[in-house]
Amino acid sequence: MINSPILCADDEPYNLGILRMALKEHHPLVFSRSGQETLYAVAKHRPALILLDVQMPDMDGYEVCRRLKRDADTENIPVIFVTGMTQEIDEKAGFEVGAVDYITKPISVPIVQARVQTHLSLVRADRLKESYHDAIHMLGKAGHYNDTDTGVHIWRMAAYSRVLAETIGWDMERCNLLELAAPMHDTGKIGIPDAILKKPGKLDQEEWKIMKSHSSIGHGILKQSKAPLFQLAAEIALNHHEKWDGTGYPNGLSAMEIPESARIVAIADVFDALSMKRPYKEAWSLAKIQDYLNENAGSHLDSQLVEVFMDIMPTILEIKANWDARELALVENFS
Ligand code: C2E
Ligand code: SIN
Ligand code: SIN
Ligand code: FE
Repeated sequence: MINSPILCADDEPYNLGILRMALKEHHPLVFSRSGQETLYAVAKHRPALILLDVQMPDMDGYEVCRRLKRDADTENIPVIFVTGMTQEIDEKAGFEVGAVDYITKPISVPIVQARVQTHLSLVRADRLKESYHDAIHMLGKAGHYNDTDTGVHIWRMAAYSRVLAETIGWDMERCNLLELAAPMHDTGKIGIPDAILKKPGKLDQEEWKIMKSHSSIGHGILKQSKAPLFQLAAEIALNHHEKWDGTGYPNGLSAMEIPESARIVAIADVFDALSMKRPYKEAWSLAKIQDYLNENAGSHLDSQLVEVFMDIMPTILEIKANWDARELALVENFS
C-alpha cells in the first residue's frame, strides 16, 4: 500500500505527459492507454489511486469504473475522472458509477496534485480508522475469556451505551467516542487468572478480591494513552462497577461522583451480561433482566438512566436482535 503506484489512464500521450510531470516527483506511477489496458494494469499493480480518462476508444471510463466497483478486490481503489466533458450531467454520471472526484481538461498541474493528495490522505485515514477499530477489538477481546466468544457482545453493549447517551443528549462526537471506548471496559480481565475467570461456581472471598482488581488493571493499561478515546476508556474501565449507593468498587464512589460514562456503561454491561450464559450462570430471560434493572435502579444503577433505558427498550431490542443474528451467523461459519 505504501508503495502502491498511482495509475494514470488516458488515450492521449500528451495528457499522460502532463500527469507524469505533475506527479512523478512524489509518487510512483504506472500508465495505461485504453480501457482494457487499465483493467489489466489495475490487476497487475494494485494502484493506490486511479486518474481515469472518461473518453477512451475501446471502453469508456464509466464502464471501467463500474467494473472496478463491482469487484471486491478493487472496489475500494479511489477513482478520479479526468474529463473534457464539463456539463453537470457528466459530473452526475461520474459520481454515480463510484468516482470520488473529477478533474477537467485542460489538466491543471496544481489541481491534480491537490486532488491526489486529498484522496491519498483519505485512504490513509480510512486505513488508520480500520487499525484503530481492530486495536479496540483486540483490547476488548483480551478482557474476555470464552473460547467460543465471537466478540459480538462487546460491540452490542457498546451500541446500547451509545443509544442511551444519544437519548440523554450527548453530542454526536462524544457518542462516537463512547461507542468505541465502551468495548474496552473489561480490558483488565486480561490480568485475572483463568482459574477465577472460568470458575463454574461462585467465587470465594480471596478470588473475588482478585476479580475486583480488573477495574484498576484496565485503567492502568488504558490510561497510558493520552488520546481522548483511551482516556474515556480508562475512566470507564475504572468506574464501571461503582454503584449509585456507594457499595461498588474499586473506590466506593456514589451517585454523581461516578462519571456519567461509567453509569451508562454499567447499565449496558449488566443488561448484556445477564442475557448471556457465563461459566457461572445461565442466560436470563428478558423479563427477568428488566425486573432486575428496575429493582436495582437507585441502589446499584442510576435510576434516571434506567428509566431512559426502559423508555428506549424497543430500540435496544432491535440492536440486540441485529447483533444476535450476526453472532449466530459467525458461530455457524466457525463450526
Ligand atoms: P460479567 O460476567 O461480565 O458481569 C458483569 C456484571 O453484570 C457483574 O458485575 C454484575 O453486576 C452483573 N451480573 C453478571 N452476572 C450476574 C448474575 O448472575 N447475577 C447478578 N445479580 N448480576 C450479574 P460484578 O458482579 O462486579 O462482576 C464482575 C465480573 O466478575 C463478572 O463480569 C465476572 O467476570 C466475574 N464474576 C462475578 N461473579 C462471579 C461468579 O460467581 N463466578 C465467576 N466465575 N465469576 C464471577
Ligand atoms: C465525468 O463526466 O467525467 C465525470 C465527472 C465529470 O463530469 O468530470
Ligand atoms: C465473555 O464474557 O466473553 C464470555 C461470554 C460469551 O461471549 O460467550
Ligand atoms: Fe467488569
